[in-house]
Amino acid sequence: MENLLILHASQIATPIGNSIKHGKEMNQIKIINDGAIFLENGLIKYIGKTDEVIEKVKSRNISTFDKIIDATGSTLVPGFVDSHTHFLFAGYRLDEFCERVAGSTYMEIMEKGGGIQATVDATRKVSSAKLKKLGSNRLQEMLHQGITTVEGKSGYGLDKEAELKQLRAFRELNVIQPVDISVTYLGAHAIPREFENKTDEYIEFIIKEVLPVIKEEELAEFVDVFCDQGVFDLESSSKLLKSAKKLGFKIKMHADEIANLNGVKLASELDAVSADHLIKISLAEIDELSRKKNTVATLLPCTAFCLKENFAPARELIDKGCGVALASDYNPGSSFTCSIPLIVALSSFSMKMTMNEILTALTLNGAAALDIADEKGSLEPGKIGDIVFLNYSDFRYLLYNTGNNIVSKVIKNGKLVYQA
Ligand code: NIG
Ligand code: FE
Repeated sequence: MENLLILHASQIATPIGNSIKHGKEMNQIKIINDGAIFLENGLIKYIGKTDEVIEKVKSRNISTFDKIIDATGSTLVPGFVDSHTHFLFAGYRLDEFCERVAGSTYMEIMEKGGGIQATVDATRKVSSAKLKKLGSNRLQEMLHQGITTVEGKSGYGLDKEAELKQLRAFRELNVIQPVDISVTYLGAHAIPREFENKTDEYIEFIIKEVLPVIKEEELAEFVDVFCDQGVFDLESSSKLLKSAKKLGFKIKMHADEIANLNGVKLASELDAVSADHLIKISLAEIDELSRKKNTVATLLPCTAFCLKENFAPARELIDKGCGVALASDYNPGSSFTCSIPLIVALSSFSMKMTMNEILTALTLNGAAALDIADEKGSLEPGKIGDIVFLNYSDFRYLLYNTGNNIVSKVIKNGKLVYQA
């Protein structure tokens, strides 16, 4: 039995519940002043005002506490869940980034053979050991941002061997460092050179040769597709995702990012766990998401910002009753950042979300986008003890202290894993 007692937090701020929050519910946050949390075996056992929690644990002898932390002056929030990233890659694309800053578009660079292909070339070449080292360094950066669970997508190998190298690296990274990784197979991220102008054959190859191996080795929980102009059209995306569903994978989708192909409609029809990006979502698709409610709308403001695109219509989605999550999209092309302060600033100032909605979107709704809202994403008895300490006495300093990282400590599974 290992335990931890945290006392006298100036504030605890958390959404409440075991499932996604939709629409107005996203704005409902529980605030506890002078709060305390008692954790046992990695889980939250008691949470409340400090005097209430002390009352509950007082029958225990002080020597039976492994660790007591005085949180005076700090705010406690749930560990952030970054539910959409491509953090495992080799090589960087600084020159193309500068070309984009100077005016080229993401798709122009991709058509010239840069973009995702450039990262595929570098990732195929790198050794598995080097790839894991790159991954663990980036996970460390994420932990310092207060991210305790992250989604990781493959999609920079494309051929079977290199995709399996990425997926196996995720599995090993899950064991050797504290941040939990939910794994997504994104073989349909680009059409590899070997299959140029043969999209149908590539989809067939994925369905017949790759998905069964991934299932057999349990290397990924989700299957995703980059459904967009010049990449995978609606028909190929639908074919792939339906086959993946039949094999028992959960579904995610890059939808309506660069152009509107009605990707969100397909995601909703297939009961995808999430539809991501949504910069070009149509009004009809917003209605569809809000009616069915099974699919999380995952918005990636850093990507819209770095692509100099418009932002996804967060306000319209929430006002119509959808459930919105926020994530970094960490990748070497469109969003080379895992900055929580940047996500918070853009969601507020450019997407008009409230601070309460932003907190829900980064925690409980992020967990819902990974189908783990029953165990993560909020601070409540029974949930996993993933807790972020902020340097100030109110969680709204996340926005007020604009662009600054105010994380001072991170607790993962009830253990202190980072201290600034
Ligand atoms: O989510 N849209 C596709 N994938 C990433 C970009 C990946 C890359 O450019 O390497 C995204 O924006
Ligand atoms: Fe992405």
